[in-house]
Amino acid sequence: MHKVVFVTGNEGKFAEVRDILKPFGIEVIQDKNGYPELQEDELEPIAAYGAQYAANKLKMPAMVDDSGIFIKALNGFPGPYSRFVEDKLGNSKVLKLMEGETDRTAYFKTVIGYCEPGKEPLVFPGVVEGKIAYEERGTGGFGYDPIFEYQGVTFGELGDAEKNKVSHRRRAIDSFLEWFKDKLENPESKN
Ligand code: IMP
Repeated sequence: MHKVVFVTGNEGKFAEVRDILKPFGIEVIQDKNGYPELQEDELEPIAAYGAQYAANKLKMPAMVDDSGIFIKALNGFPGPYSRFVEDKLGNSKVLKLMEGETDRTAYFKTVIGYCEPGKEPLVFPGVVEGKIAYEERGTGGFGYDPIFEYQGVTFGELGDAEKNKVSHRRRAIDSFLEWFKDKLENPESKN
């Protein structure tokens, strides 16, 4: 069994990642102590720095996950500031910012950062494209789920099981897994 520490305070995310990686012989252990979050316009450097910090501190392979929603009409806002905006403004005020905007294009993105002690960090992005709804719909999920429409249905309406099949987070984990499986098969060639 390969052990990886997942640094997150979010139990839901931890359970999802643990369950996906277990059949591949990866045991995921939760660490709730957090990591310093750089102030950057992109998620990649935040995730890379967090994973490297955690791997060197914990002396174990470490993984972090940084996500956000990027709205085209708002030039990508709130992006890496999604948690702050969710806490301070909430979905109703984000919808207000979108009043009069006909281009509702948006995407959710997760970047998984992974690092082994003393090595360089790697990043694995996952994106799901959709649209900002005109009003909140659905009671499932969390955060921006009720205002994010994927193929006409909001993530709040879709339910966790269906969302987790197509979500940005799922796609980022799948991308990490592809790399990890390759590394197991060719141990000398990667990282
Ligand atoms: P985190 O980096 O995954 O904690 O995400 C930062 C913020 O983005 C969260 O506080 C949420 O507001 C938002 N967010 C991330 N992923 C999702 C999602 O799957 N659904 C809805 N909101 C999300």
